Amino acid sequence: MDTAAIILAAGEGTRMKSKKPKVAHEILGKPLINWVIDSAKDAGIQTIVSVVGHKADQVIPLIEDDCEYVFQKELLGTADAVKCALASESLKGFEGSIVLLYGDCPLITSDTISKIASVQQGEGASCVLLTMVLGDPFGYGRIVRDGASSKNAVLRIVEQKDANEEEAAICECNSGIYCFDANALKEAIEKVENDNAQSEFYITDVIEIMGNDGLKCIAYPTDDIEECLGINSRFQLSEATAMLQGRINRMHMDNGVTIVSPLTTWISPDVAIEPDVVIRPNVELVGKTSIGQDSIVGPNTRLSDTVVGRACRIDETIAYESIIEDEAECGPRAYLRPGAHLCRASKAGTHVEIKKSTIGEHSKVPHLSYIGDTTIGKNVNIGAGSITCNYDGKNKNSTTIGDDTFVGSDTMMVAPLNIGSNVTVGAGSVLTRDVPDGALAIGRAREKLIDGWSEKHMK
Ligand code: UD1
Ligand code: CA
Repeated sequence: MDTAAIILAAGEGTRMKSKKPKVAHEILGKPLINWVIDSAKDAGIQTIVSVVGHKADQVIPLIEDDCEYVFQKELLGTADAVKCALASESLKGFEGSIVLLYGDCPLITSDTISKIASVQQGEGASCVLLTMVLGDPFGYGRIVRDGASSKNAVLRIVEQKDANEEEAAICECNSGIYCFDANALKEAIEKVENDNAQSEFYITDVIEIMGNDGLKCIAYPTDDIEECLGINSRFQLSEATAMLQGRINRMHMDNGVTIVSPLTTWISPDVAIEPDVVIRPNVELVGKTSIGQDSIVGPNTRLSDTVVGRACRIDETIAYESIIEDEAECGPRAYLRPGAHLCRASKAGTHVEIKKSTIGEHSKVPHLSYIGDTTIGKNVNIGAGSITCNYDGKNKNSTTIGDDTFVGSDTMMVAPLNIGSNVTVGAGSVLTRDVPDGALAIGRAREKLIDGWSEKHMK
């Protein structure tokens, strides 16, 4: 049967104390709402409608490529939000199952979503709701069951603010995650009223309504309470971050990656790592980063949208949008800015910054250099402290350096500049003119030697 998902994300999240809407806050580089959308997608759900409201202008750009969205003009409660979604283009005539999720519950897994959908469909139920038994249930909706019936059927959900003493003592709570039969939901939601402590339209009321109509509702206890954790505060954001960090690290370790210090390793969900990679302490891998077999990454490294080949050594490196090919070496303390490309077995060493430049195969920039807007050929050595002067105050200019060239230490290459292949550049040169293949280039003041100077002056 066809399954759709509704994701509620219109709420404000005042306890975050933020100018950003709650669902836009990130965990491991991905906004909360995108975690939920991706779990729904991973469960095979294609029709997804998010309900936006508070600061929608900041939420829509995050989701518009991934799902449909509708506005909830006034926050009249969860049932009103669901109603807005049901009126959307794709759900208006929809028949099948509808999973209801919250944009601030990023830990929900695709397995659990699939599970409640298959229980709802398999049992022909009008609703399956995921419940959890909590030591401290305060704040959650409580599950009231019919103790008299042999099936212990769920009768209704009572919100904290509406609960009497007896109901408040119930430890089984509503996670807020459900799977409904679409038609049953559409019918029941019309009957929801707002005569409760918060004067809100509660989606939880449809359980009792369905029960009264003789429809089947199943309360399905989760075996993983973690999945239902909602984010209301910065502290809960940090707890959820630690949980997702643990999940992701575990997955990579199970795939054959060594993570020396899991608590100080932060890997974003879209990162790909091959087996036999070693991640040393204090490493952040974000965006669409990938790392090939036998590479060693870290310590103290951040790689963002960077492709690392096999058998590379990446030590204390910060890299953005860069490519590091097989057997290349980086750091310690290298800074690769967007467009840096280290070809096979090349090196960007200590305190080296590289921007929008290609370092050819087996070429080395070992110490204290800046290379920008430059193409370096194969087997080139750039001496310590050498710099491409790529900016003349107005424009960025480029430099090319041919194969097998040796650039002496402390050379200033004033761009635009072409240095040929098999060239030798004397240390301390300032190069302002192109250098032909095979030449020796020296551009520096000659030193003077004055015999006996100390004898005369130091008395
Ligand atoms: C809800 C449930 C409660 C459950 C708890 C689990 C109801 C009435 N109660 O309570 O039984 O135990 O979740 O976390 O559903 N939202 C909108 N529009 C609205 C109101 C809310 O989009 O008009 C969104 C919020 O942004 C949030 C979600 O719905 O993501 C839940 O709303 P919230 O008011 O936080 O409900 P809870 O009190 O947490
Ligand atoms: Ca909540």
